[in-house]
Amino acid sequence: MITQTKPLLEIQNLKKEFPLEEGKTVKAVDGVSLSVEKGCIFGIVGESGSGKTTLGRMIVRLLEPSGGTINYDGQDISGADLSRDKRLRRKLQLVFQDPYSSLHPRKKIKNVIGRGLRTHGLVGSEEEAVEKVVSFLSLVGMSEQHLYRYPHELSGGQRQRVAIARALILDPELVVLDEPTSSLDVSVQAEVLKLLESLRERLDLTYLFITHDLAVVRLFTEKLAILYLGRIMETGDTEDLFSSPLHPYTEALISVTPKLDPTKRGEKIILKGEIPSPIDPPTGCPFHTRCFKKVGAICETSAPLLREAGKGRFVACHLYDNEKPAQIQGEVTP
Ligand SMILES: Nc1ncnc2c1ncn2[C@@H]1O[C@H](COP(=O)(O)OP(=O)(O)OP(=O)(O)O)[C@@H](O)[C@H]1O
Ligand SMILES: [Mg+2]
Repeated sequence: MITQTKPLLEIQNLKKEFPLEEGKTVKAVDGVSLSVEKGCIFGIVGESGSGKTTLGRMIVRLLEPSGGTINYDGQDISGADLSRDKRLRRKLQLVFQDPYSSLHPRKKIKNVIGRGLRTHGLVGSEEEAVEKVVSFLSLVGMSEQHLYRYPHELSGGQRQRVAIARALILDPELVVLDEPTSSLDVSVQAEVLKLLESLRERLDLTYLFITHDLAVVRLFTEKLAILYLGRIMETGDTEDLFSSPLHPYTEALISVTPKLDPTKRGEKIILKGEIPSPIDPPTGCPFHTRCFKKVGAICETSAPLLREAGKGRFVACHLYDNEKPAQIQGEVTP
């Protein structure tokens, strides 16, 4: 018998529009659907401005969606009020990109990491809180001697470890990691990624890993969604996407990623032009202004639907219009 595991996170047709002056809006996230299995490391990749952070912040409910649904552990949390729902607030954690600005500069590490312990009733006394903070410091490879330091006294890597400890001490299930290593030196990046990987196993976590770095994503994630102007261009198993990219955008991104095997070096596809503005996105396929495989006028007039292109594999491109039945971008559950 095939047992289907229910996804821990399932989002459908999620949208976020930011209103601007003169009645204009930024379509930061424009109908994203995806589902994340428990224990998975799911990567969200896209260029700057593609909507990664907006998507991550909606999932942990720091931002209100303009439309669509977020199902977490079988519960629709799209409209949940996290100031009331403490359990949910604890279960969904976010690690920010920049540990320099996300840690309170005038709080000692003990208070930075231990900030939510009392609120969430996870400890009964100050001694217990300190004990717990020390154990989480050790879990992220730091020691008791850092307890009474301030964030500015730590290195970038140590600060990010503190940010990770601060999120994990609350016993979350789903952690959104928003470019957790992009502000760090390459060698420190590798250490922090290794740490995150071991913590996932130890603490039974599920990660949504946001990045613009495809080399990191290949090493670190199991599933992947490629975002462009707030829409998913392609999604599926990371290894499948790397070994046989279907969408021209995925192909271009992968072609310029450093290869693990230098004998497999192919031609680099350099995309022309800049990513268009989400205030005034192109008509039709959002990628058509930079696409090197345009099928015809349809690319300029009609937005391709996200179609199934194999098991757990979905692609939004007119190149594949005749292959598999179409599904509406917002209504598909990859
Ligand atoms: N509060 C806001 N008000 C108006 N526009 C916003 C707001 N937050 C984000 N945006 C816009 O939404 C789009 C998506 O932004 P977002 O920060 O989600 O992108 P990103 O993929 O995380 O980019 P980066 O890689 O630079 O972090 C951008 O055009 C951004 O300018
Ligand atoms: Mg971002």
